[in-house]
Amino acid sequence: MDLPPGAVHLASHLTPDAQRKLAAECRALMDGDVPAYVPVVRGGGKMHVRMLCLGRHWNGQTYRYESVRTDFDSLPAPPLPSSFKALADGIARTAGMTLDADLCILNYYDADGRMGLHQDKDESPGSLEAGVPVVSISLGDTARFLFGGLRRKDPVMAIPLQSGDAFVFGGPSRLRYHGVSRIVPDTAPPELGLHGRFNLTFRQF
Ligand code: SIN
Ligand code: MN
Repeated sequence: MDLPPGAVHLASHLTPDAQRKLAAECRALMDGDVPAYVPVVRGGGKMHVRMLCLGRHWNGQTYRYESVRTDFDSLPAPPLPSSFKALADGIARTAGMTLDADLCILNYYDADGRMGLHQDKDESPGSLEAGVPVVSISLGDTARFLFGGLRRKDPVMAIPLQSGDAFVFGGPSRLRYHGVSRIVPDTAPPELGLHGRFNLTFRQF
């Protein structure tokens, strides 16, 4: 499938071993001292994921980044692990782009998880204008990822994101609408011991 300029799909980028290690780290973080939670967004709707922000917290009420989770429990966002950052920056480089990630949004999707079409546009104007990429890593069950245009009504392509895939969107694709229409249950590699899906999106504020 032909992707637009600035979008790169690196299928099976992570080895099974790297996936296993990263999934275990994600699980530990999600159930750690600063746990993942289900954000309630502006308008009062619950998101269909469990979310944990690392490095900076994305506030689902204000759509702004902050250091403590004022929309939930006022705990500080845990730091972005240096190994996570190195992985993401390296993936951007592999895709021919430059990222100095300072935050990651880690989401867990159960079998009913999904995410409506949206733009990632809450990072700094400088980062968005420069087209600094978002790097996405998927683990566990396959997702039906939707990738559209710069307007909500533009046509979307459906891209299956499988465990170990990376997807990068920067440059002229940085503000493309995207979302997850569904999770394909029981498609995770069994050795991950994961029901559902983790997705990590790395950004540079
Ligand atoms: C996101 O857009 O924040 C998540 C995308 C995904 O789960 O693949
Ligand atoms: Mn997004």
